[in-house]
Amino acid sequence: MQTQSPVLPDSTLETRIRSLGGDLLDRMAAHPAPGILSKSGAYARLMEWSMRDPAFKAQLFRFVDVLPTLHSSAEIVRHLQEYLGDHAVVLHPALKAGLGAASFAPALVAKPVKAQVTDLARQFVAGETAEDLVKRLRANAKRGIASTIDLLGETVVNEAEADCFLQRNLDVLNTVSAAFARDAESCFSDETATGPLPRLNLSVKMSALTPDVNPADPDRSIAALKTRLRPILRRAIEVGAFINFDMESYKLKDLTFALFQSILEEAEFATQPAMGIALQAYLRSAEDDLNSLIRWARLRRRPITVRLVKGAYWDYETIIAQQRDWPVPVWTHKAESDACFERLSLLLLQNIDIITPAFASHNVRSCAHAISQADKLGIDPRAYEFQALYGMADDFKAALVATGHRVREYCPVGELLPGMAYLVRRLLENTSNEGFLRSAASGETSRDHLLAAPRPPAPKSAPGPAPEFRNVPNSDFSQAALRSDLSASLQRVRAKLGRDHPAIVGGKALKPSEWITSVNPAQPTEIIGRWGRATPAEADNAIAAATAAYPKWRDTPANNRAALLERVADLMVARRHDLSALIILEAGKPWPEADADVSEAIDFCRFYATEMRALAQPRLTQNVSGERNTLQW
Ligand code: 2OP
Repeated sequence: MQTQSPVLPDSTLETRIRSLGGDLLDRMAAHPAPGILSKSGAYARLMEWSMRDPAFKAQLFRFVDVLPTLHSSAEIVRHLQEYLGDHAVVLHPALKAGLGAASFAPALVAKPVKAQVTDLARQFVAGETAEDLVKRLRANAKRGIASTIDLLGETVVNEAEADCFLQRNLDVLNTVSAAFARDAESCFSDETATGPLPRLNLSVKMSALTPDVNPADPDRSIAALKTRLRPILRRAIEVGAFINFDMESYKLKDLTFALFQSILEEAEFATQPAMGIALQAYLRSAEDDLNSLIRWARLRRRPITVRLVKGAYWDYETIIAQQRDWPVPVWTHKAESDACFERLSLLLLQNIDIITPAFASHNVRSCAHAISQADKLGIDPRAYEFQALYGMADDFKAALVATGHRVREYCPVGELLPGMAYLVRRLLENTSNEGFLRSAASGETSRDHLLAAPRPPAPKSAPGPAPEFRNVPNSDFSQAALRSDLSASLQRVRAKLGRDHPAIVGGKALKPSEWITSVNPAQPTEIIGRWGRATPAEADNAIAAATAAYPKWRDTPANNRAALLERVADLMVARRHDLSALIILEAGKPWPEADADVSEAIDFCRFYATEMRALAQPRLTQNVSGERNTLQW
């Protein structure tokens, strides 16, 4: 159902967004909620320093991350000194002095530091136990706010952890549904114009369901994920709960979408439970992903919710992609993510007959835009919802509810250790110089600026000078296209197995008296090929041939020799998947390791070509009057 409405010029839409956004900001100003950014004292100082000095910030957050695993005061102090020692002095000599003195009385420093970090975590985590959680859900309901529960934990490393995560999810579905059964009525945000929503709403991170998540092997990963997902969905059906798939790092994105669709195609989950999935607007692929999700939902006639977020792993995605020389999957500029969020908001609203939009952002402009677009399309405000995180933007949540909008709070519960990654993401978010909350809290950004349409900067075209030597990137097997390239190579190489490979001396193939068979160690009946064993006399001949060829090679200009190596590298790049396939078959290596071996071979050729070019340049060595000393290889 695409509601027909008069097309408004953009300026009219912008006017609406500004007046609506202005109203929301007024309400927020009238009832400000204290947040981490408005805290005073030690936090404020630490956050302030973090925003000023990225190196300090990285070290501070690394320390926070490692803290729950440190058991003695001495350990805590040693880590504090190691992590912050060098940076502290730049910012504050007193901090440096304190860290130095800490060695003499570790408990005096360690205890309050641990208490402060625990307190910091409490800002963002709704509690540790089911009782804490139920209290929070009831408090939210009183304010007209619905909730989604998140049991902290991600990226499990063994089966026991995954079993524990499954059990916690089943337990929380039982406990909370029992608690809700005792409450008389649901809250404002759990009611749409057409009826009540499931009050019990659970968000699940796929990486907590099994240690066997390998984006390079989606079929097996999906099978492993489903073994713990099915019991959760079955229990959700029994207690009438809604299940949302969280979205994590980019490498799991395609896998998570594939799992979502695949499990909902199973007969028992075709119509229930109510389900949703998160979509990250900071990904360049987000629009394509949403379009294919909409096509799928229409094809299966399966109504779903899409929680539209900006994305919480921006720093990680950027750094990992740069480190691996892969295309950066996220937008470079915050304004690009914001603009993408707005395009996707409209797309969601235009498909509201099959997709229920959940706009999850603390950005007043982004949300005012969604409301204005919905209004323009004639959509009832209670047909969609807003989502915001526990411990953040409480004044915004209240303003949205007060203006007749449904709001759901994302409530993480659990212990500090499994919750660390979540906490660090919140700290990164809150100390980003580009975040909306920070801009709003700083009081330095004008209202016009806060509510202005996102304007991404024009792309820069001039690339920097190419560095001398760069490692060739390994293949990212989370990408289906690369997986199918390697599969095709495996087929091609398999078709050519079993041949004979005699030794070649002086350009001529020898006739061996003995053949050695090479087999696939993972499948010893598969013969890779046979190679001919040479005799000691033939080895002498080979050395003589090389000696005879040497003067010509020696006198070949270094540039030509280097060019030959580079040509070899280029040929290997062009056929890298065939080479990997051969390594996989002959050495029994897993795909990524075989692929990395090929990269290493390519790198060797290019590295030594580069080095040889440099070494071949005569270099001035000593500056002595009347002499000119050069060194040349
Ligand atoms: C995160 O875990 C809120 O799901 C989001 O960072």
